[in-house]
Amino acid sequence: MTVPPIAMLAELTYRCPLSCPYCSNPIEMAQQDQELETATWADVFRQAADLGVLQLHLSGGEPASRRDLTELVHAARTAGLYTNLITSGIGLSQKRLAELDEAGLDHIQLSLQGTDAGMADMIGGYRGGFDRKMKVAGWIAEIGFPLTLNAVLHRKNLHQLPRAIEMAVEMGARRIEVATVQFHGWALQNRDALMPTKEQAKEATRIVAEARVALKGKLVIDYVPADYHSDYPKRCMGGWGTTGLNVAPDGLVLPCHAAQSIPHLEFESVRYRRLRDIWYDSAAFNAYRGTDWMADPCKSCERKTVDFGGCRCQAMALLGDANATDPVCVKSPHHGRLQDQAAAHASAEAELVYRSAPAKAP
Ligand code: SF4
Ligand code: FES
Repeated sequence: MTVPPIAMLAELTYRCPLSCPYCSNPIEMAQQDQELETATWADVFRQAADLGVLQLHLSGGEPASRRDLTELVHAARTAGLYTNLITSGIGLSQKRLAELDEAGLDHIQLSLQGTDAGMADMIGGYRGGFDRKMKVAGWIAEIGFPLTLNAVLHRKNLHQLPRAIEMAVEMGARRIEVATVQFHGWALQNRDALMPTKEQAKEATRIVAEARVALKGKLVIDYVPADYHSDYPKRCMGGWGTTGLNVAPDGLVLPCHAAQSIPHLEFESVRYRRLRDIWYDSAAFNAYRGTDWMADPCKSCERKTVDFGGCRCQAMALLGDANATDPVCVKSPHHGRLQDQAAAHASAEAELVYRSAPAKAP
């Protein structure tokens, strides 16, 4: 039986002052003039609450690039949603943060590209970004927003993990998400530059385990391990069409941020259909819901309701078949080849390919 979603990720815009080479936004980004208007988003938030969504994550791109961000937060809170702003901090001033507080913003998730200006500005492709982010972190603490630090790690900055954890404590964050890069979107283009080595992946797991013990009761550490070096895949999106949904800047409703990479799926827009109908009845949401779609080895596997066969977009990207078992899984016939590929990417040298800006309106 299909249950309602708990969380919705609203990608308010693909615009962003940063150009991180691991951005999960699609390579082909919607034009700015196709972004949903304030009133349409407000209606989508009401529909989401009515559908059963509890948490709204306001994301992008950089959501602060939307001038109406405060209005959107107000609309979401009025609809009864818990609101979390996922931001690099660029575009937020002290005044704007105070207005967001006034509008009812519940939580901020601040991204960290590196633990010093040299690394952070190089990865974000934005000079001065780190210093600005530190200022924003200070204002967030002054206002007293609950904070999660989101450190995205890869071969170039995994050695900074211990400092990232220290920074989360210093900033008064309640939680840090230690997220090893997932290879979708722009990151897929950058595997030769960003793939961690197996040793780095192991070391990160050790550091996280130690820090969890040392900081128990002080800081919660969420950890997304290096996928290609694992033996079992992650339960992507908590299971397709199970717990969450994404709405893209132009209103397309997606089961996950990379779903548009699966070419045979057609996605529907909130401009033309109610969110409830899309969640329950659309072909795209039903395509990989549950376990009926599976073939072996997933079909006969005892873990099939643990990880739901892993990530559909990863199966598509790596095998050209979204129905296949995620090749991260040891039971996949392609697992060995993926491990070899991961080792090859990890020892390759390559320049970073930075995310480019969304196409401008004509
Ligand atoms: Fe998960 Fe499928 Fe691997 Fe079983 S075979 S562990 S269900 S990915
Ligand atoms: Fe699409 Fe994993 S990112 S299912």
